[in-house]
Amino acid sequence: MKKTVFFIFTVALFAGNYKIDSESKLIVDKGLEDVKENCVVCHTGRFIVKNGGDKKFWETKIRVMQKAFGLWDLDKRTHDSIVNYLAKNYHKDWKKGRDSLSKDLSTPKLNLK
Ligand code: HEC
Repeated sequence: MKKTVFFIFTVALFAGNYKIDSESKLIVDKGLEDVKENCVVCHTGRFIVKNGGDKKFWETKIRVMQKAFGLWDLDKRTHDSIVNYLAKNYHKDWKKGRDSLSKDLSTPKLNLK
């Protein structure tokens, strides 16, 4: 019984354990500033994270951005910081249990000039 209570408490804690950045609408965590500086400049943060994945997934996305859409070279620190941030917070199943976050994902907006 004690174990069950502890389990429920832990799940509840994790479910609500994130803050949303009001500007980018992305989860506040280490690396967010790099994402805002290098990715959210062209499209909204929510557009980037319509899909999620592991580090490999995000590394590929960055390469696509560089090859096709004009993302500049990133130094290793910035690149790793972005990949770590995205793979940690926006992995494949990130929407599970976060319905309130995924609600407005259907309206991507581009900030292209
Ligand atoms: C110079 C502008 C620019 C920058 C900087 C940029 N992107 Fe993009 N991105 C685009 C454009 C243009 C599209 C295509 C939009 C479309 O498909 O209509 C796109 C689409 C995407 C997509 C959705 C398409 C797909 O293949 O899944 C993802 C994910 C993405 N970008 C991630 C990133 C990440 C992560 C960064 C930062 C490391 C980044 N972008 C930086 C211009 C940019």
